[in-house]
Amino acid sequence: MIDKKTLIEERVNSGLLGQWYPVAKSVEIKNTVPYGAIVLGRKLVLWRDGAGQIKCIEDFCPHRGAPLSYGEVHEGNIGCRYHGVIVDGEGVVQRVPAMPECALEGRKALESFHATEHSDCVFVYMPSAEQPEPPELVMPKELESDEWTGFLCTSVWDCNYRYALDNLADPMHGCYLHSESFTLAFGSKQDLMELNKTGEGFRISRVGQVGANFDWTEFEVHPGNMFCYLDIPYPPAAGPGGNMRIVGFVLPVAERRCKVFFWRLRQVSGIERESWRFLYRAQLEQNHWHVLEQDRVMLEGMPDDARKREMLYQHDLGVSRIRQILTRAAKSQIEAETRVAAE
Ligand code: FES
Ligand SMILES: [Fe+2]
Repeated sequence: MIDKKTLIEERVNSGLLGQWYPVAKSVEIKNTVPYGAIVLGRKLVLWRDGAGQIKCIEDFCPHRGAPLSYGEVHEGNIGCRYHGVIVDGEGVVQRVPAMPECALEGRKALESFHATEHSDCVFVYMPSAEQPEPPELVMPKELESDEWTGFLCTSVWDCNYRYALDNLADPMHGCYLHSESFTLAFGSKQDLMELNKTGEGFRISRVGQVGANFDWTEFEVHPGNMFCYLDIPYPPAAGPGGNMRIVGFVLPVAERRCKVFFWRLRQVSGIERESWRFLYRAQLEQNHWHVLEQDRVMLEGMPDDARKREMLYQHDLGVSRIRQILTRAAKSQIEAETRVAAE
C-alpha cells in the first residue's frame, strides 16, 4: 500500500483536484470541430452545442475507445469518427447509427465536466471528493473591470506545472534571466525578499526596490482556483497606462507538461486603449514572447527531480510558500478521499 506522504506528493505533482483550470482560448472551442485537451493527465474533449454552450466530456468513445476529439459536432452532440456513435454533452450515447436499436443508446457512458468561459478563456472544473460540485470561479479584478484591457496568450511548456508556479513566485530571476529585455533590464541585482500574507493569499516582494523590475508577485488562492499577478515596469516610451500587469494561471497537463495562460493588461481607456492595443500588436508582443521563451527554455532544461538536490536560500520564500499551499491542499484531498472510501 502506498503511504500517505507519497500519495500527497503524487497529487501535488499531477495537480490538485477541486479546481477550475483554464484549458483553451474561447475562440478555439467551436461548434463544428471538437477540441481535445489534456487536463491533469486526463484526455477531455470540448465543443459548443447549438446554443454556443461549452460541453466537456471524456475524450473516449464508449464503443471502442477512439478519441471523440477526432470526430465531428452533429447538432450539438459529438459523433465518433470511427463508427459514427453519437454522444451528448452529458456523456450519454444518443445514437448508434450503424446498429438499429442498439442497447448502448440512452446509456450514460462517460463522465462530463462543468465548463465555463471568462475573459476569452475556457475553464473546466476537475471535481474532488471534497468538492464534487464546483465552487465559484474567482477571476482577477482586472479581468472583471472595464478599466483594463489586454490580451490572453497561452503557451505549452514541457515541464511540470510546479516549475511554472515556482518561477512566478520568484521575482528575483527577472533581473538575471531577463536582464537583456526591453522592460526587465533595470534595478539592482542584489536584494532580500519579504513575504506578506494578504486576504486571499500572499505577496512576495523585493525589499530594496519597487517598480524597477519584476519586483513582486501576488498569489490569490480561492476554494476553486488560484492565480497570480505581477507588474512589468514600462518606460514612458511604451505609451499610456503605466505598468503592464500580467495575470497568470497554470494548467497541469501531464507529469512533464503544463500550459500557461497569461493576460497582458494595461489600465487604459478611451483612445489610449486603442493606441495601447495597436502598439502592443505592432511592437511589444514580440518582446514579451521573447521573455516568455527565456522562462520556458530555463524550466524545460531543469531536471524533473531538481527538488531532491536544490539548496534554497532567502530569496525562495515565495517558492516555499507556494509549495506549502499545494501540499496542504493535496493532504486535505487525500484525507477526504480516504474518508469517502471508508463510508
Ligand atoms: S470507437 Fe467510436 S464508434 Fe466505434
Ligand atoms: Fe520570467
